[in-house]
Amino acid sequence: MLPFFADIIAPLLSALQSPAVVEIGSEHGKLTRKLCELVAPWEGRVHAIDPAPLFDADVWTKDLAPTLAVHRAKSLDALPAVDGFDVVLVDGDHNWFTVLSELRLVERLARERGAAHPLVLLHDVAWPYGRRDLYYEPESIPEQHRQSWARRGISPVSSELLPRGGLNAHLANATHEGGPRNGVLTAVEDYLKETQVEQTLTIVPAAFGLAILLPATLAAEKPAALELVRPWMSTAVQGFLEKMETARIAMLTQAG
Ligand SMILES: C[S@@+](CC[C@H](N)C(=O)[O-])C[C@H]1O[C@@H](n2cnc3c(N)ncnc32)[C@H](O)[C@@H]1O
Repeated sequence: MLPFFADIIAPLLSALQSPAVVEIGSEHGKLTRKLCELVAPWEGRVHAIDPAPLFDADVWTKDLAPTLAVHRAKSLDALPAVDGFDVVLVDGDHNWFTVLSELRLVERLARERGAAHPLVLLHDVAWPYGRRDLYYEPESIPEQHRQSWARRGISPVSSELLPRGGLNAHLANATHEGGPRNGVLTAVEDYLKETQVEQTLTIVPAAFGLAILLPATLAAEKPAALELVRPWMSTAVQGFLEKMETARIAMLTQAG
């Protein structure tokens, strides 16, 4: 999600002066630290949720006090313990079941607390995980919601995983791309069919894809946020970014 910080995430958080930001999936904490530095001047708080962060959570929590709270747990266990959230960044376990469950839980918690529905940004809504599940821990996903999977690499020119090589060959990837209940974008679309919150979906088709779910009430209350999202809605911008992303992925995977 880091590539989106300067041009999308930071301007949006600054416009909203977001008091509470949740980051699902922190890994090395590169984005976490930037988020903390950004929100500290207005006394914002960053909740980093990751069952296995690759930074020293205790040291960082002290260094970045009182801004950072690290939750060493999976998103679905940790979210209820976060007392409030204005912006949620979703970049954890990239599969249909987890992402749909996260979106449902965020909506339910906000509603139960009588809080405004947050702005939600999700990474990996384009290739390779927009239409293909990835499992950090396949056995933790209920069997009926899990695709067949293998630790083999992905190619942009075939739905099937490659016998050798390919992208992310060390990860547990769904063996096929597409179809129902498969991938992060499919989860977002399925969520939008059932949500009770009016919101718009904008996709930035670059750097593996970013989805911006902007609630209508927030757009009405903070027109500056809508103005920051609007340029990314342009079909010309989207078409150009899609071409650049296809070329980048071809180079990345040496597919042609
Ligand atoms: C792609 S990395 C996140 C990268 C980070 N957001 C950034 O921009 O630098 C995914 C992270 O999600 C974490 N993760 C996996 N399953 C998770 C879950 N159910 N809830 C929260 N985090 C999870 C992994 O441990 C990993 O560190």
